[in-house]
Amino acid sequence: MTISVNMNIFEKKRMKKICVVSGGSGGLGLAIAAFLLKSGKDVLILGRNGEKLNRAAKRLGRISPDAHVSTLICNIGIETDVRRTGEFLEEHKIVTEYLFNNAGRGLFAEATTATSEMIDDVFEANLKGMILLTSEILRITPEKEELTIVNIMSTSALLGRDHETIYCASKWGARGYTEALRTELKGRKRNIIAVYPGGMKTDFYDVAEQDRDISEFMDPKEVAEKIVNAVLVKDKLLVTDITISRKK
Ligand SMILES: NC(=O)c1ccc[n+]([C@@H]2O[C@H](COP(=O)([O-])OP(=O)(O)OC[C@H]3O[C@@H](n4cnc5c(N)ncnc54)[C@H](OP(=O)(O)O)[C@@H]3O)[C@@H](O)[C@H]2O)c1
Repeated sequence: MTISVNMNIFEKKRMKKICVVSGGSGGLGLAIAAFLLKSGKDVLILGRNGEKLNRAAKRLGRISPDAHVSTLICNIGIETDVRRTGEFLEEHKIVTEYLFNNAGRGLFAEATTATSEMIDDVFEANLKGMILLTSEILRITPEKEELTIVNIMSTSALLGRDHETIYCASKWGARGYTEALRTELKGRKRNIIAVYPGGMKTDFYDVAEQDRDISEFMDPKEVAEKIVNAVLVKDKLLVTDITISRKK
């Protein structure tokens, strides 16, 4: 697995603080990246597919002439990819101000059909990748710098759903990790925000090979706006847990 870097933005502008968005090439991650850019933040998006990342960067670059977006091919479930992402940030003296652990994938299947491959596929980004990327960003971020980590999970991390046993297990695992991390980092300049969204109209359901009517599901742009507004607010109070669902 190789990592490829679009360094144009970093070279043009001596960027110091950025927001890292895993899975920023599509769906909710792309919408989060767009709102961050609109809020004046510089953004680095991570994903596995270079073409998808380039298309996303072009779209994001049109947001405003001041929009600074860059891309890295990085499978967050592969330790060497994640290490190289960290090395790249260190080498360019870039500090992560906000980490959005958003990359993930779905799977809908009967409990009797679970295979090792299915489990690895779902756990790769949803849990293992979240842990690896968080660990690396924490390791390279100086203690004196404030870092906010936003873990995008799902309402499937709060309930058990039929035909979602593996997906729920990965998201409940991510929730356990998030809670333990919060306890471990208490009193330091690290903020941990847990996000539990309900169903959104994204490619998630293509990947999950689900023939499901998602026409009534939430627009990822509206969800992203709510998340970014809550996360970026600068005052003495911190929003710690966000659940976003459709109005019934
Ligand atoms: N859509 C929903 O209904 C829904 C509901 C609740 C929670 N969520 C959660 O919201 C998050 C975003 O989902 P979405 O709906 O926006 O899905 P999506 O449209 O399928 O986008 C997923 C993104 O993650 C990236 N990705 C997947 N595996 C990766 C890996 N191992 N390393 C790096 N990037 C990876 C994908 O890009 P590449 O394929 O190019 O790597 C893509 O950019 C996920 O954590 C999902 O579980 C979604």
